[in-house]
Amino acid sequence: GLPARVRIHEVGARDGLQNEKETVPTEVKAEFIRRLAVAGLTTIEATSFVHPKWVPQLADAEQLFPLLGDIADVGDVALPVLVPNERGLDRALALGARSIAVFGSATETFAARNLNRTVDASLAMFEPVVARAKADKVQVRGYLSMCFGDPWEGAVPVAQVVRVAKALMDLGCDELSLGDTIGVATPGHVTALLTALNEAGVPTPSIGVHFHDTYGQALSNTLAALQHGVSTVDASAGGLGGCPYARSATGNLATEDLVWMLDGLGIETGVDLAELTATSVWLAGHLGRPSPSRTVRALTPP
Ligand code: HMG
Ligand code: MG
Repeated sequence: GLPARVRIHEVGARDGLQNEKETVPTEVKAEFIRRLAVAGLTTIEATSFVHPKWVPQLADAEQLFPLLGDIADVGDVALPVLVPNERGLDRALALGARSIAVFGSATETFAARNLNRTVDASLAMFEPVVARAKADKVQVRGYLSMCFGDPWEGAVPVAQVVRVAKALMDLGCDELSLGDTIGVATPGHVTALLTALNEAGVPTPSIGVHFHDTYGQALSNTLAALQHGVSTVDASAGGLGGCPYARSATGNLATEDLVWMLDGLGIETGVDLAELTATSVWLAGHLGRPSPSRTVRALTPP
């Protein structure tokens, strides 16, 4: 059956903004994250400690993270950050990060393009990161990209995904996030992958899902995952990310679309939809384009 409560892992400030053409000022990012917390989100991915040349939009991580100190006043909010290697971990720990995410790939092409390494060499790069974080009682999420399809390799076999997912869990990750990076998944494929992961010994409570909405399947895929028992769902406020007009680069599942569905199903999230929508409309003003979220549009008078 469906879970009674879903924890939304909000990725707008990271997965969303890293893909926007406009680089948002650091103070605006801080205000965005604070407003997301006020709207009731309790896990808000803040930024990435990656090489600034690889992701220029998040090059201000050192300036941004200290501005988030007052989020604690809003409530108990986790602010995970992406960390690919020990250099990134050092930067994150120096600023007091208590929750990190490593990010692997199920395909060789994306591992090479995103991490400049093979799949196995990336796992080797993560190993000391996860070990040191765990020793420090820092929460660790393991993202896995291209779990369904890859723009260069096509459909990705379930067994190939299961192998890397197990390897990430064996490193000691607390949680896995299954990424449909290019949004090609469909619900049957989601159920097949979750079933295979369970059979390989990865339990459903440690699995989150991360859908992009390129083909309009993100909510259907989410529902399939919920029916499987998944209760951690990644989403991005306003559907931030990518360009809504470019076929290969759309944003994540919009948090508002997710909350609309979960509210309707009577599944608790703790999120105030009006507050969240107002936040996305406010940020859209800074980005100079309307939110692609259907729910944001429906709830916003013209
Ligand atoms: P590399 O060039 O192989 O790095 O990049 P390297 O280890 O050879 O080091 C080269 C130089 O970079 C050195 O400097 C390092 O110090 C520096 P030099 O000695 O030449 O002056 N360096 C760093 N500087 C700052 N912070 C660091 C860092 N690491 C090395 N952390 C690397 C390898 C992993 C660093 C690079 O490929 C990289 O930064 N990749 C990040 C890519 C990225 O952030 N992608 C987006 C996130 S993934 C995603 O969006 C998918 C997800 O949403 C799920 C889904 O949808 O599928 C999560
Ligand atoms: Mg993503």
